[in-house]
Amino acid sequence: MIDAPAPSGARVVRPARRLRGELTVPGDKSITHRGLLLGAQAGGRTRLRNPGLGADTRASAALVRALGAEVSIDIDELRVTGLGLHGLREPADVLDCGNSGTTMRLGGGLLAGRPLHAVLTGDASLRTRPMDRIVRPLRALGARIDGRANGAYAPLAIAPGRLHGAELDIPVASAQVKSAVILAALRADGPTVLRQPDPSRDHTERILRAQGAVLRTAGGEIRCEPAHDLQALDLDVPGDISSAAFWIAAAVLHPDAEISIRNVGLNPLRTGILDALQSMGADIDTQIETTDPEPSGTVTARTSDLHAIEAGGHLIPRLIDEASLLALLATRAHGESRIADAAELRVKESDRLHTTERALSALGLELDAESDGFTIAGGARAGGGAVEAAGDHRIAMLAAVAAVSGTGPVTIRGAQAVDVSYPTFWDDLARLSE
Ligand code: S3P
Repeated sequence: MIDAPAPSGARVVRPARRLRGELTVPGDKSITHRGLLLGAQAGGRTRLRNPGLGADTRASAALVRALGAEVSIDIDELRVTGLGLHGLREPADVLDCGNSGTTMRLGGGLLAGRPLHAVLTGDASLRTRPMDRIVRPLRALGARIDGRANGAYAPLAIAPGRLHGAELDIPVASAQVKSAVILAALRADGPTVLRQPDPSRDHTERILRAQGAVLRTAGGEIRCEPAHDLQALDLDVPGDISSAAFWIAAAVLHPDAEISIRNVGLNPLRTGILDALQSMGADIDTQIETTDPEPSGTVTARTSDLHAIEAGGHLIPRLIDEASLLALLATRAHGESRIADAAELRVKESDRLHTTERALSALGLELDAESDGFTIAGGARAGGGAVEAAGDHRIAMLAAVAAVSGTGPVTIRGAQAVDVSYPTFWDDLARLSE
């Protein structure tokens, strides 16, 4: 089904005769990042069971190690011994966040307003992603932080400083920006109030509350009180719905498929893709089995007959990492679909409006990338072809899903990009395919 990787990092994925099986996916990447970064400033040892271990979360582990926290990583458990809220030490060298926007943005909030110098950098893609979205609000809290083009891009340099509370309007519905501000606000000398246009994933707020921080949420506003100490936690990390979504989409698209994913995170601010699929008529069952530390359970998806969708507004932040998959799903639906209000896709690991259009067009599918989304012609099935992952893990996995549920072999160039979030992706694809 999947050829071994060529030296160039290309893989060929062929259509499966059937897709069947039950699996778990790696632990949630967003929660694992937060477990590491928030655990580093707690007192005592934080344990994360079932962590998501990919290049991105390893960058967060390296960052907190460089700040003096102890981290030990086993395949099914990660432990961080924190140094307390004010105990992080000045790093001796530049902090390399690799490809990880979460490491850099939350790292910026973690480091701002401490008595230390730090420089955050990353790979070529991360150095082109907007950082003014964290630099401006952190400066408004009193942080001394700068970067290329007056703080627009990394490398970012943080100088010693002190923080005060503030009232802030954040113009984008971004959990990374919100979290950066909250991480700094915990050490300010007064309360901080922040407002954002739409709710975004709330893993930071949930973990911080469990650690003892006081955060109040009301009508789009979050009020964060300065914290004293933060407690270490034991967390069971649920599987990452953003990884599970590839198998859900593959099952829905394939003509003979049923896939169950157990222990998958079902935080309502992450389940937009399930709501979108339900509104398209997909054959999916969702069973919530636990609510602590976050809702999680089993999702079963089967071959489906889909109708077109108009997606936009509050739904988009709830499926931002799944928007390219939604575009692929819409190519199979009856009728023309539209995804709007998704301009944020331009500043992900690649310009995903462009790379999604390019990848799916290369497989004979019809869609147009517009300024804030896509218009997608329905009723088609992906053919064979060659796709560039463009250094974007989600584009590599999108192409694999199109291929395994499509009609011809697809060569995926730069397939190793999956290592950022889902290093075992190819093994799972092989297990599910017949
Ligand atoms: C993330 C938030 C989202 C998402 C990213 C992970 C997080 O980014 O796309 O993959 O863990 O907070 P934005 O906050 O920029 O929307």
